[in-house]
Amino acid sequence: MAVIILKDKKFGVSITAKEIDAAIRKVSDQINRDYEGKNILFLPILNGSFMFTADLLRKIRIPCQVTFVKYASYSGISTTTQVTELIGINESVASRHVVILEDIVDTGITMDLVLNELKKFHPADVRIACMFHKPEAFVKSFKIDYLGMNIPNEFVVGFGLDYDGYGRNYADVYRLVK
Ligand code: IMP
Ligand code: MG
Repeated sequence: MAVIILKDKKFGVSITAKEIDAAIRKVSDQINRDYEGKNILFLPILNGSFMFTADLLRKIRIPCQVTFVKYASYSGISTTTQVTELIGINESVASRHVVILEDIVDTGITMDLVLNELKKFHPADVRIACMFHKPEAFVKSFKIDYLGMNIPNEFVVGFGLDYDGYGRNYADVYRLVK
């Protein structure tokens, strides 16, 4: 589908499922190599990361566990600087090799909050894997260890990303058409 309509807005294809899959392959190869002989606790951030998590984890060959957390920062198509914790860290991360999974790092405010929360639970180490990143919108300084791809500072939907809850189900990524 080249164009989709979600509520009052029109979106056009921006990144294909094939490109996304190649990027996830690259990330999974890096993780499989870096964590050889270790054991990973993946910490995906709901809701947006569910598709990235499902696709990435099917390519992971390291012993691993998964526990989801949930934070929300977006309202409509713009970020709010307020981040709310909806499901907290509910399993012991102490002494674990944690890999946070996120669909997109935009301003970085959500991830920064998760990083600070995680520190309280004393993991052995923490790395970040994210599918998309908007470097132009980034206001924080943490390092993204595993990145699918950088994208322009535009609002996108699909592959787990939503507009007011809609559009998460598409395999391709779409950008807002003005
Ligand atoms: P941040 O706190 O500004 O980095 O925003 C992170 C969260 O905002 C992500 O987990 C997404 O859920 C959401 N988000 C950021 N950019 C977009 C976008 O272009 N489309 C949909 N959601 C987005
Ligand atoms: Mg999200």
